[in-house]
Amino acid sequence: MSDTASGTDPDPQAGRQKRAIPDLFLLQYLPIIPRGVALDLGAGNGRNSIFLAEHGFEVDAFDRGTESVAELMTAARERNLPIRAIRNEVTTLTILPKRYSLAVIAWVLMFLRRGERDGVVKMAIRGLLPGGFIYLGVFSTHDPGYALCKEKFEEIEERTFFVPKRKMTMHYFIPEEVKALLGGLEEIAFKEGYEMDIGHGEPHHHGRIEVIARLPKE
Ligand SMILES: C[S@@+](CC[C@H](N)C(=O)[O-])C[C@H]1O[C@@H](n2cnc3c(N)ncnc32)[C@H](O)[C@@H]1O
Repeated sequence: MSDTASGTDPDPQAGRQKRAIPDLFLLQYLPIIPRGVALDLGAGNGRNSIFLAEHGFEVDAFDRGTESVAELMTAARERNLPIRAIRNEVTTLTILPKRYSLAVIAWVLMFLRRGERDGVVKMAIRGLLPGGFIYLGVFSTHDPGYALCKEKFEEIEERTFFVPKRKMTMHYFIPEEVKALLGGLEEIAFKEGYEMDIGHGEPHHHGRIEVIARLPKE
């Protein structure tokens, strides 16, 4: 019975629980991803890292946010999960080559400039073991933010806008661009969609592209 149906107050932790759900596309393909060490770039509060650590992976998680990293380290310690959460810019990071059976770059590349996006994805691919997987999630030009940015903000690179209030850039992807980033890898699954995001703040929509690809075995 739900809290509402039982007449009690809604669970104040409900929002947190929603945020803790990992990316479902990743979850869907998890059975074919070899267990080992996973890399989570721009891990945020670690919803994917925690899920992966609970399902047989060791995780190296990186994020620039001091609070996110602290929150993730605390969660990992409390649950005794094998997660190393490290505060670092993903653009200045050096990772070990051929260490990871999975690299996750979820909802981060939109905040980077073109050269940085290419560099981060190349680095993640170099970090993969032969037969390793990469998961990318990015906003597409079907995102309502794209039309808004086009109308209001300066386009400093193709489909990249400077958002003055947040002092940051936002990039919106097209499918060919995502595929080009993963050139040379075997495409396992590709999904383009328009979905409601109920994970934070007021429910809102995003145009999304998600890809799972595999580095060929040597
Ligand atoms: C939308 S959140 C996504 C978080 C997580 N991947 C997820 O799917 O829940 C974007 C995250 O990327 C991080 N981020 C953005 N630019 C970054 C950079 N240059 N280096 C490291 N982290 C970055 C932010 O701090 C934020 O935690």
